[in-house]
Amino acid sequence: MVSEEFFGRKFIFLSGKGGVGKTTTSSSIALGLSERGHKTLLISTDPAHSIGHIFEREIGPKEKELQKNLYAVEIDVRKESKRYIDNIIKEARQILSPIIIDEIQEQIELAYHSPGAEELALFDIITRFFEKENAYDRFVFDTAPSGYTLRLLALPKALNNWINRLIKTRINAMKVQYYADRNPDKTLKAKLESDPVLKILNRRKSQFELARQILLDNKKTLFMFVLNPERLPIEITRDSIKELEETHIKIEALVINKIANDSSARSRKEKEYVAQIEKEFAPRRMFKIPLLEEEAHGIESIKKISDIIFSD
Ligand SMILES: Nc1ncnc2c1ncn2[C@@H]1O[C@H](COP(=O)(O)OP(=O)(O)OP(=O)(O)O)[C@@H](O)[C@H]1O
Ligand SMILES: [Mg+2]
Repeated sequence: MVSEEFFGRKFIFLSGKGGVGKTTTSSSIALGLSERGHKTLLISTDPAHSIGHIFEREIGPKEKELQKNLYAVEIDVRKESKRYIDNIIKEARQILSPIIIDEIQEQIELAYHSPGAEELALFDIITRFFEKENAYDRFVFDTAPSGYTLRLLALPKALNNWINRLIKTRINAMKVQYYADRNPDKTLKAKLESDPVLKILNRRKSQFELARQILLDNKKTLFMFVLNPERLPIEITRDSIKELEETHIKIEALVINKIANDSSARSRKEKEYVAQIEKEFAPRRMFKIPLLEEEAHGIESIKKISDIIFSD
């Protein structure tokens, strides 16, 4: 299967530890796809705003056309997660009593400041793109450096259980209130149907279901790992792959990046690691990228790497 066909999945995710080349590789893949006529959106959640540097353009939270068929967006997860909470609270404020609001606000803020909150926000951002899948032919995600993020992606089932519990609790609370009310203005059914909290929860539930469906569908979604030919990254990759595959997410490809090609002892050692990676992680697809002389900055380097990735 040639690369263009291999990248025929609508959603492409790149993961890997800090500094291995995720942003470089995802930019190269996005560029290659766009040059082959696929309308592609490159999504970065890297707080360093590095795709802007690569393409030498100001890129922000609004999708921007960089060249024909190539679009990019940079999302600040921390800011987004804050905006997300503020919105929920604002929505609730219009409908609920101030006492309840204070209580809810506290709960929501607690939930969002607990560990994993940013990953949850990232998850939210990703599902938003799932909901608008028809807008582009390809979505390439340059995920944040943490492997934690992908683990969360594998979690919609647990999230779903959690949301079902919240829905149940909310319905029960409304029932209690309804039966305590001597003069209800609406039927219980009508109240449940118009409840803003239930609306939010149900929307989240369908978002999670959609996310789960898409993430587990390898006709639609491709997961890949970027690593360098060194001992530690190999170990990390091994652990991450095992963990993800336990949750039925397959890592179908590896990018072995920054392979030095000279006669130094270091380069010889790297060749051994490359061989080890190819053997250990077979039959996954491998993309081998040399260490470029210059730091892989700017569109020219991206173009070079893209040509290697799509060389078949
Ligand atoms: N094949 C390569 N040859 C030379 N330099 C490279 C290559 N790939 C990446 N680099 C350089 O290595 C550095 C890290 O690359 P990149 O930003 O793509 O990694 P990352 O995984 O996205 O990092 P982070 O985890 O910080 O987001 C950058 O300075 C980049 O220009
Ligand atoms: Mg990066």
